[in-house]
Amino acid sequence: MRKKIVAGNWKMNLTAEEAVQLNRDVENQIMDPKCDIYQFTPSLYLPLLVEKEGYIQIGAQNGHPEKKGAFTGEISMFQLQSSGVQSVLIGHSERRQLFHETNDFLKSKVDAALENNITPFYCCGETLEERESGKHEAVVIDQIKEGCFHLPAEKIRKIVFAYEPVWAIGTGKTASPEQANDMHRLIRNAIAENYDNEIAENATILYGGSCKPTNAKELFTMEHIDGGLIGGASLKADDFIQIINTLN
Ligand code: 13P
Repeated sequence: MRKKIVAGNWKMNLTAEEAVQLNRDVENQIMDPKCDIYQFTPSLYLPLLVEKEGYIQIGAQNGHPEKKGAFTGEISMFQLQSSGVQSVLIGHSERRQLFHETNDFLKSKVDAALENNITPFYCCGETLEERESGKHEAVVIDQIKEGCFHLPAEKIRKIVFAYEPVWAIGTGKTASPEQANDMHRLIRNAIAENYDNEIAENATILYGGSCKPTNAKELFTMEHIDGGLIGGASLKADDFIQIINTLN
């Protein structure tokens, strides 16, 4: 059985106090979660949250592949690991678009994360233009192949995949359950082709992009969708909890 996950990506939001409160509110209101829950916080707040007792797993939104050196403003995967961080987002479309991160660079982040025992949540997704020109499948498969398929079988098992169509992020426009499921199936098939059926069947593939309490259930009941990576709706405890409860 593959792992079900609901993860919140807080992006560059919340004060330190609000972050701690949000983490506490979610934890206090969900007693017996039927899925793994993650909160990807601004890096500044990682120590505040990582050291708390609790079942919510705290992850970083970014990490640099080099172990140390002259990279002003960056935090390495090695440093994340030394602070007790066990998961990291890699390849989010905002990093790809705004910070020009290429598949090749993301590949080095995947390697560095795994070397430091950090679980990569590897994000992929096409722009509207790519979908409208019919290139969406090729773009997403290339992102995954170039970022992850160099890994040996025992390491690819550690990756959590997240399909986030760029046109659905923060726009209120969600991929239909069928559109998302089709892409998730394609990703799973690519894993099966490059590795084997057992690895593909056990791979967790999350959907992200305007996922809300009102549409989470129809998305999460699709065969190939194993949970969500939630942006805006993860900033409100009630919305995030309702989304988690659709998997309970
Ligand atoms: P929204 O849920 O705000 O569309 O963001 C999705 C996302 O980018 C999660 O990583």
